[in-house]
Amino acid sequence: MSIETQNPQVKFYSGENIPLELHKVRIVQKLHLVPIERRLEALKEGGFNTFQLNTYDVFLDMLTDSGTNAMSDNQLAAMMKADDAYAGSQSFFRLQKAVEDVLGKKYFLPVHQGRAAENILGKAYVKKGSFVPMNYHFTTAMAHITEYGGQIAELLYPEAYVIDSSHPFKGNMNIEVLDAYIQEKGVENIPYIRMEASTNLIGGQPFSIQNLRDVRAVANKYGIRLVLDASLLGENAYLVKQREEEFKNSSMGEIIKEMTGLADLVYFSARKLSSSRGGGICTNDEKIYRELEALIPLFEGFLTYGGISTREIEAMAVGLYETLDETIISQSPTFIKYVVDKATTLGIPMITPPGVLGAHVNAMEFCSHIPQTQYPAGALAAAFFLISGVRGMERGSVSNQRDENGNETYADMELLRLAVPRRVFTLSQVTYVVDRLKWLYDNRELIGGLKFVYEPPVLRFFMGKLAPTSDWPEKLMAKFRKDFGDSL
Ligand code: F0G
Repeated sequence: MSIETQNPQVKFYSGENIPLELHKVRIVQKLHLVPIERRLEALKEGGFNTFQLNTYDVFLDMLTDSGTNAMSDNQLAAMMKADDAYAGSQSFFRLQKAVEDVLGKKYFLPVHQGRAAENILGKAYVKKGSFVPMNYHFTTAMAHITEYGGQIAELLYPEAYVIDSSHPFKGNMNIEVLDAYIQEKGVENIPYIRMEASTNLIGGQPFSIQNLRDVRAVANKYGIRLVLDASLLGENAYLVKQREEEFKNSSMGEIIKEMTGLADLVYFSARKLSSSRGGGICTNDEKIYRELEALIPLFEGFLTYGGISTREIEAMAVGLYETLDETIISQSPTFIKYVVDKATTLGIPMITPPGVLGAHVNAMEFCSHIPQTQYPAGALAAAFFLISGVRGMERGSVSNQRDENGNETYADMELLRLAVPRRVFTLSQVTYVVDRLKWLYDNRELIGGLKFVYEPPVLRFFMGKLAPTSDWPEKLMAKFRKDFGDSL
């Protein structure tokens, strides 16, 4: 399939930096912007947790890009020719070929989504006393490792934690610390090193290929497997092309293969990587393949569908090829950059440089009057939904898990993530986001804290219920009405 397009930039005569949409909208979905009074009720019903909202009450759904990227005409067309066989489906072989063509790995195991791959890896390799070093954790990756008795270690460089930065690769693994960590914990206790492309929880920040090469060298030195979480690989590749001199003239395909070629095992959430559903694990190492193979029918489904519908398998295959098209992959990061640049100019504290997946608001500074014990990022997510109908996601201490003694652990960063799924929103919609963010920033003193009223033991941020520590939501609503009159 020859769909590679490079450098899809269009300069405006006015000199303005506007991310022009290089797609057209052919199927649309009506949105509701319900009045603020209803939004407050919805928040109360949902325990001030944006995961618990009903999308009828949501205007712009910026919760995540997971399963919400727009699908292409080619993906939808491919879904029509799905081969619904339990075993030996043609759809699977098309996907297997796409994995080999795009990711350069010949052995492929399908799983129902990214965390299912994490479960398989945990089951196969992690046990009590295992340590898994990584650039940074992702919620589900960590939960599976700890579920199997292991511990994780986040080994980023200090610059990763600098909110307002111009460092191009904040997702880089700290190589010296990695080496020392392996020596301290013992090679035999380290089943694998995990590198996450476009490190999600620190603001969608990429690593460089040079850094991945350095990690590979350490993995070789000790004979430890290197695992790449490729859920956000396309965007990491795009930013490598933008920011790493050596690759400025490379194609997306070349960059992607360079990265996957350095890993022994690559897994991904297809909900992100290929704008579909599903997930997968791939490798060129037959031994690794055999170690994991038997777990797929046990947990996921037969080896030629792995819990994914065959229609989605077809969409995944096409979506994988589409990650080679810079026109498609650059759309979300350029919109994110637009939002971050505009917001920063207005004085709103954002994670910089702009990363991928979403624009990230620094809630620790935005709500500096709210202590971490009262979840500033959760409070900001609730307040922003209240005054805009825009649903973001808390990525801070609510999303953290308690330690092995049951004590609360506070996140390194308190972020409100406003996801920008691929080719879903228009420029006026993201302009509205910036406008409402600015109003909220100017009225930030009115935002108060949250407390848990129901806290599930695992991945508490999904189902947990919180309550405001005072009547601050009512006061914020009153101010909104005063300033905006009867506007929605
Ligand atoms: N790894 C990364 C880096 C992810 O961002 C995600 C999901 C997963 C693994 C798990 O994949 O959802 O298919 O099971 N991230 C979503 C998000 C949920 O909103 O950031 P999954």
